[in-house]
Amino acid sequence: MEECNVYLSCNHLLRSNAANAVVYMFFVSVVRYALVLLVPLSLILSSYLYLYPVFHLCAFPAPEHDASTAYTNTLRQHLPFSTHEATKVAPFRLLALGDPQLEGESPLDDPKAASFPNLAKFWKDALLLDGTNHNPLQRLRHSLHDLIDFYLDDVPNFLEAYRKRLDHIGNDYYLGHIYRTMHWWTDPSHVTVLGDLVGSQWIEDEEFESRGWRFWNRVFKGGERIFDEVASTPSESFQDTRILGEYPAAWKQIILNVPGNHDIGYAGDISPERVERFDRVFGKPNYELRFQLPVNGTDMEGDSTEKGDDDPVIEEEKPVPELRIIIFNDMNLDTPASSKEMQDQSYGFLNDVITSSHDVDRQALFTIVLTHIPMHKEAGICVDGPFFDFYDGYFDNGVKEQNHLSQSASRGFLEGVFGMSGNPGAAGSGFGRNGVILTGHDHEGCDTYHYINQSDPPEREWRAMKWKDAVDLGVEEQPGVPGLREITVRSMMGDFAGNAGLMSLWFDEEDWDWKFKFVNCQMGTQHIWWIVHILDLITLGVGLVYGILVAVEKFTPREVSKKHMGNGKSTTSNGVSKVGDGKLDSYLPEYLQTTNGKLDVPGAGKKSLRKKKSKRNL
Ligand SMILES: *[C@@H]1O[C@H](CO)[C@@H](O)[C@H](O)[C@H]1NC(C)=O
Repeated sequence: MEECNVYLSCNHLLRSNAANAVVYMFFVSVVRYALVLLVPLSLILSSYLYLYPVFHLCAFPAPEHDASTAYTNTLRQHLPFSTHEATKVAPFRLLALGDPQLEGESPLDDPKAASFPNLAKFWKDALLLDGTNHNPLQRLRHSLHDLIDFYLDDVPNFLEAYRKRLDHIGNDYYLGHIYRTMHWWTDPSHVTVLGDLVGSQWIEDEEFESRGWRFWNRVFKGGERIFDEVASTPSESFQDTRILGEYPAAWKQIILNVPGNHDIGYAGDISPERVERFDRVFGKPNYELRFQLPVNGTDMEGDSTEKGDDDPVIEEEKPVPELRIIIFNDMNLDTPASSKEMQDQSYGFLNDVITSSHDVDRQALFTIVLTHIPMHKEAGICVDGPFFDFYDGYFDNGVKEQNHLSQSASRGFLEGVFGMSGNPGAAGSGFGRNGVILTGHDHEGCDTYHYINQSDPPEREWRAMKWKDAVDLGVEEQPGVPGLREITVRSMMGDFAGNAGLMSLWFDEEDWDWKFKFVNCQMGTQHIWWIVHILDLITLGVGLVYGILVAVEKFTPREVSKKHMGNGKSTTSNGVSKVGDGKLDSYLPEYLQTTNGKLDVPGAGKKSLRKKKSKRNL
């Protein structure tokens, strides 16, 4: 009896032992072939997924260089024993992400969906638990109804609730993958998320907190909410100007979060409570940052202490290049707004931004506005056309939804913040300040040019066209036509191919002005992420099964079965080393290897499955 082992029972016939071994072996070989296929496939697809910006040729544009130079320079930053050229790296590199819109438990979801309510009802009706006195027929009828509802309602609801949860978790990691991979590969100096961080303004505080946790721990892991002391209020005596390029590690972790309609609501449903919780979890809704760039020929010390006087004291000395970033809640710029207090806050902030601006003819200035709702433009330029909807009878009839800002609010940006004017006699000939507006909201993304033709009759208006057309027609360089580019960044959601915007800004010392370029980098839909990870899991599972099979075989006393088989051959370690080199067999576990080219399977005979297979493959 001591010769018996656990899974080859002594009571079995020898024939059955042999058959078992063949089946076992066949199974092992199937698993092995599956692995031969799965492992390389998993490796290739995972490498592709985890290095997607490398394969998609993504890089921050390089100052005065083409895309391929920018890409090779980025590549060099990641290669060992290779140096990149620092002059080809823009000092300001903004990773701009649009509308992640984290979904979660919605107030519209049935909270009981996952708890099988009809099953409870079934027991109640079947066992008359609630004390009713049904006759047996009624009892059967009610119970059967409950049972049907259980199978056709509860079970699907339950599965759906869990599918949704899994979907949300996967989506978090999908978005997180985009952030982490882009952050690693492109090395931004700053990061912004252009509003709609969460998917609904109607969620309860608890759910808001939970999504905030997911935002910081899954999607933007390693990212940090901006410190309140760093997020400055604009003022005439602005003190917080920083040096661009200082503390790079700290700045690249900070996420400049912009509030969107799904975070705090539109003008109709925005409330101090919603703004407060956004502020607490994601950062202030309105603030500005200023950076100066030290370049040759400027006196940093001198300029920064001379507040309010932007003109260089000495003729030869040029003004210090300065970058102004304005994070702005434009949710309640338009009327009617239900909270006057909140609207006054936005208006007040914008006024402060305008009054604390440098003179329009101050050189070397660049202003970036980061806000959520895009500027007004006619239908057909972007996917979203102008659209307004208002609450009727409640929320003070405030704005319920809008695709763009109103025409007058948009004009406020162009003429106020950027100081542009249709009047050629205005300061700086109406050309205003250099800059760009980055927005979100329209998930498809858009690139536009807002301009005003000073030669038009005095009732002239701001108009917009596609940026590409503006370049093709030369409108952006036309004299007497001031204008500004607005980039609506395509959403990073899977349905919009996981987009990320890359904006490079650098200073051109010859023109003594800032220049920028913007490109997009897309990962592909969420399905790619899912498929690759599911495949990896399958490969891991199959690998595990294979490991177990090999281990089981290894610890099975072979001599026992062999004695039973009457097979004199025994696969020893010596035997293994004798097996022909370069044959598939030499990769096989001991028990499947052959001696003298014959398969050494107990009782398997000369023409075993294994033999045929290996012949075919060799
Ligand atoms: C501006 O107006 C002038 C004169 O009417 C015209 O020649 C020019 O094409 C206009 N520019 C644009 C961009 O519309």
